[in-house]
Amino acid sequence: MYTGESGCCQCPVALAGRYFQMPIQNPFATSELAFPILECFHIAGFALSIGMTALIDFRLLGFGLRDETPAEIALSGQLWMLSGLVVAIFSGLLLFSTDPDKYYLNWIFDAKMVCLVIALAFNYTVHRKALSPGASPSAGRRLAVVSLALWLSVVFGGIYIALLQ
Ligand code: HEM
Repeated sequence: MYTGESGCCQCPVALAGRYFQMPIQNPFATSELAFPILECFHIAGFALSIGMTALIDFRLLGFGLRDETPAEIALSGQLWMLSGLVVAIFSGLLLFSTDPDKYYLNWIFDAKMVCLVIALAFNYTVHRKALSPGASPSAGRRLAVVSLALWLSVVFGGIYIALLQ
């Protein structure tokens, strides 16, 4: 039977109490390897997703895979684009979790997040219209330039986060 503080330390209630008083540690923040490994996933993820979008945008501008229509490129690459995006966003959230205060207070990080939300909204709304069969080629070129600029701003936002640390 449990006999108080100096008694048996195996009491489940006492053990549970001690367990819940321990500070919660983020394993990604304490391991030296976690950050560089997460960055590798982050870079691979966004290279895949932005790479797929760039193929469509270059095609809209008249370069690259000219044997296929922009809609065909989008269709065959949509799974790659989405998988890359999921990996980039998930690994980005884990990178962020290693030091939330540092990133939250970094205005370049905040600007990158705003650009990311705009780029995602643009990608799944206006940009799609440029792929429809009746879309005007000149409007398609303008949308391709805006799409490339938005995604590049997210990439450069990511690169320059480190400048303000
Ligand atoms: C497709 C979307 C994204 C792109 C293109 C992108 C781009 C980048 C780039 C280029 C870097 C610098 C990598 C390096 O220099 O090694 C970076 C780092 C980082 N990203 Fe992203 N990112 C994306 C999404 C996210 C998301 C959703 C988050 C978090 C919510 C995030 C958080 C971070 C953090 C915390 C870093 C580390 C910054 C540092 O300390 O150097 N990213 N990202």
